[in-house]
Amino acid sequence: MGGRKTEAICFTNNKGGSGKSTTCANLGYELSRAGKKVLFIDGDMQLNLSLSFFDEDRVLTLAGSGRTLYDAVKQKRDLTDMIIPTGYEGIDIVPSTTLMSQVDYDLFTMMQREYILRKCLKNVKDSGVYDYILIDAPPTLGIWVINILCASDYVILPIEASPWGFFGLANMFDFLNNLKDVTDVSIMGVLITKVDERKSYYKQTKDILGNYGSIHVFDTFIHVDSAIEWAQDSSVPVAVYKKNTRSAVEYRSLAEELICGSAH
Ligand SMILES: Nc1ncnc2c1ncn2[C@@H]1O[C@H](COP(=O)(O)OP(=O)(O)O)[C@@H](O)[C@H]1O
Ligand SMILES: [Mg+2]
Repeated sequence: MGGRKTEAICFTNNKGGSGKSTTCANLGYELSRAGKKVLFIDGDMQLNLSLSFFDEDRVLTLAGSGRTLYDAVKQKRDLTDMIIPTGYEGIDIVPSTTLMSQVDYDLFTMMQREYILRKCLKNVKDSGVYDYILIDAPPTLGIWVINILCASDYVILPIEASPWGFFGLANMFDFLNNLKDVTDVSIMGVLITKVDERKSYYKQTKDILGNYGSIHVFDTFIHVDSAIEWAQDSSVPVAVYKKNTRSAVEYRSLAEELICGSAH
């Protein structure tokens, strides 16, 4: 038994391209650099979280290994058996497969279908081996994302600072509010991503969020940084690609915000 208090945090926003996978991977990497033990769960059939740490061949091999998140959920198995090391100290991952595209369909006929992932995760969470379990969600709002939310203590909402970044946000908050009967997951905060200071959207961003009442907005913003895409091209966290590039420094400061608990 690890003796740690494990917090499960998921990254959701039904808008694709808002920075969920990028934030999950790089925040997790920085938490591990700060001495925390991190387990990633790749909840998206696009396998972007896995691709942040392994090259494409390895990701596809893992996807076909029969030891993925999908196998665990479909067979209601303990996720402990699906955990593999990433090669980075303090970071493990549960890989995904493209079969995740049919998970909503598979869950549909299961009893207590909102809580399958929570049950698969129970032993890992109770073991106290990890400080953080970080779950990357797909850009949807179906029963699978409800499973992810029911398995999490907190949700972080990455939002792209763009005119369309806010489109649908009210829906997202409504969706979370409507889940109050099935889960007590709480919103840890909104993270504004892909900020480009040559454009003015990011200034409006905080004002617009002010209209949603008491939603916490992280002090740290993540700016547009081309190093992110180069890092993803090499399947490494951005700080490994270029230690002090702007986004790496920002994800480090986001990790500090989280650890200090100023966020929640
Ligand atoms: N701060 C950033 N600067 C530049 N590009 C970024 C940044 N964050 C994300 N991206 C790019 O934006 C795209 C969408 O990001 P991603 O994390 O995959 O979003 P989501 O998981 O919400 O769909 C990716 O191609 C990624 O490389
Ligand atoms: Mg993604």
